[in-house]
Amino acid sequence: MDNRAIGIFDSGLGGLTCVKKVMEIMPNENIIYFGDTGRVPYGTKSKETIIKYVRQNINFLETFDIKFIIIACGTASSAALPNIQDEIKTEVIGVLEPTCREAIAVTKNGKIGVIGTQGTINSGKYLETINRINPDTEVYSTACPMFVPLVENGYTEGEVARIIVEEYLAPVKEKGVDTLIMGCTHYPLLRKEIQKFMGDDVRLIDSGAAAAVEAKAHLLKNGSLCGSENAGTAKYYVSDTVVGFEELGSAFLDKHIEGSVHKIDIEKY
Ligand code: DGL
Repeated sequence: MDNRAIGIFDSGLGGLTCVKKVMEIMPNENIIYFGDTGRVPYGTKSKETIIKYVRQNINFLETFDIKFIIIACGTASSAALPNIQDEIKTEVIGVLEPTCREAIAVTKNGKIGVIGTQGTINSGKYLETINRINPDTEVYSTACPMFVPLVENGYTEGEVARIIVEEYLAPVKEKGVDTLIMGCTHYPLLRKEIQKFMGDDVRLIDSGAAAAVEAKAHLLKNGSLCGSENAGTAKYYVSDTVVGFEELGSAFLDKHIEGSVHKIDIEKY
């Protein structure tokens, strides 16, 4: 048993998809969340910049007493994690492996769509990971650069979201995929519109949730799940104003996080 917290980070709100799943499947765990709202989006930045950000985010999380880190960001998992894995003291996972494994397990026709940020899709890491696990799978990838700004500004449903979802997803839908990896953790916040457009027969894979399930498996294996029977606590940190994050985060998590969000200067780490 290990009552230390789990550290989770993303460029902004997206990693809350992972937090939500952690709260559901490991309700006693304590969580330290960092949303890099001052530097969002990551998806349009260079690999070098993402690596610098990820190092700082991990340095910040490691100032707390944490036992495990989840990089709840497809872009950071693709661009940075493979390059800096060895230098990280805390046990860490990203979203790629668990997400690809889940997609391969559920696809029936072997056709998987992958949507993500420009950085993630350009890195080819989802494709590479899927091919390594099952080379017979057909993969159709497309970047959806406007999804993150939509989510960060609260446009997760309605006409604006619908039009942009259709614009980006039409080519993937045409390929007849039966499984769609939402390879950016922001995208499950657009789930309703994505599912409506793709149709109920297409399985959507939530990369944040997949990482939470993988984290639980690691903690179980290490015997380091939290031993407390009390509900876990969550503290949230952001690198810009707390207001929008509190509001949209509370709506998404379906719980009031006002008062538990704090602003930090990430450049100090
Ligand atoms: N949510 C992140 C991801 O999974 C980052 C999106 C962004 O900041 O561009 O890729």
